[in-house]
Amino acid sequence: MTYFRQLLSLLKPNAGRGGNSCSILLLCCFLATLQCCCSALTAQDPQSSKQATRVLVTGAAGKTGRLVLSKLEKDPRYEPKGLVRSEASAKQLVKNKDVNCPLEHVVIADITSPTFLEDLRPSLEHHGLDKLEAMIICTSAVPRISKLSFAAMLLKVPINFVRRKPLVDFRSMRFKWKHPNGYPEKVDYEGQVNQIELAKQLGISHVVVVSSMGGTDQDNFLNSVGKVKDKKTGKTTGNGDILLWKRRAEKYLVESGLDYTIIHPGGLIDTPGGKEEFVLDVDDQLYKGPNRSTRISREDLADLCVASLSVGKGQKVSFDCITRPIQPTSDNGVIPESINGDVSTSSSPDPPKSAEEALTKFLELSKTANYAL
Ligand SMILES: NC(=O)c1ccc[n+]([C@@H]2O[C@H](COP(=O)([O-])OP(=O)(O)OC[C@H]3O[C@@H](n4cnc5c(N)ncnc54)[C@H](OP(=O)(O)O)[C@@H]3O)[C@@H](O)[C@H]2O)c1
Repeated sequence: MTYFRQLLSLLKPNAGRGGNSCSILLLCCFLATLQCCCSALTAQDPQSSKQATRVLVTGAAGKTGRLVLSKLEKDPRYEPKGLVRSEASAKQLVKNKDVNCPLEHVVIADITSPTFLEDLRPSLEHHGLDKLEAMIICTSAVPRISKLSFAAMLLKVPINFVRRKPLVDFRSMRFKWKHPNGYPEKVDYEGQVNQIELAKQLGISHVVVVSSMGGTDQDNFLNSVGKVKDKKTGKTTGNGDILLWKRRAEKYLVESGLDYTIIHPGGLIDTPGGKEEFVLDVDDQLYKGPNRSTRISREDLADLCVASLSVGKGQKVSFDCITRPIQPTSDNGVIPESINGDVSTSSSPDPPKSAEEALTKFLELSKTANYAL
């Protein structure tokens, strides 16, 4: 009060000519404080804005995870944190200039650890994990081709050529898992359940999962990855069934009561995004269409993950996604007939719909995966 009274007295016309030097100092302090407040309000860092949604991206050092993280780092609507498995992954992630993720945005934890939730407790306040609103799960068991089986497959090429058989038999390849205990039951089921439980504990209302297409088909080739069949006995050993374990984890999420966006991408490729149109459907119907090419670039998939945070907020939906070359329309707006997949027309195609537009349109159909299949 005295502070303001002195200020007012300074502004009075009859204030002494030389004035009270203490009061002048006080006025300067007041103006400086005012300026600081104004500049803090106008030049607010969007990343530290209280309005930015805090999102945890897990599997953040993986190929899709780091694209998602990088997109969120650049988007002022979000304040992302990336969860990685090891210190080595954390270092790699922070060094990656394309991602532009500061060390303070990275949390290290093994999702398969029996003490996963306790392991994260010290990071809760320190990394702001207590104020998360959404989680994007990009973790997965990571298969590695056994070099021996690959060499054996190549050696058989001349024999197959002579016998007029398909030159390479991909089914003869053997796979291991990248990390010890990093097989699907551990990572894609137990690890995902741990993450869903973390979401529940932290009050995260929306979980986005990057899963895979093919989950309705037990005999999908991907389920054989990591398993070995004894030719004599017909018995199977090893750890596989990646799609089955992923689907079980999805069901756990569906029954959790949380909001979810479960994305089943087709085969992932590393081409630039934004060039093709999104095609979304459910229950592996896209495998049954005339065009058997079911792939999507990781970049487009990452855009769909980010779109899920806004468009998919408050929803419970599970769908498949691929992209296809944009169908050019003729001058009268009709899609011309394709011959052997090639569409010939003189008119140039419209630019593809954004991930947000594609997802909005799909949500209008009220379709979602049928987990009874
Ligand atoms: N590849 C395809 O064609 C294809 C097709 C359809 C769907 N998908 C699915 O799409 C998703 C993304 O695939 P991607 O190839 O981009 O992923 P990715 O590069 O294989 O990344 C998987 C990430 O999960 C992390 N991870 C594994 N075990 C972990 C653990 N115990 N704790 C914490 N993190 C762990 C890995 O950590 P490290 O970096 O430390 O190893 C890695 O960063 C996966 O679910 C995949 O199955 C893939």
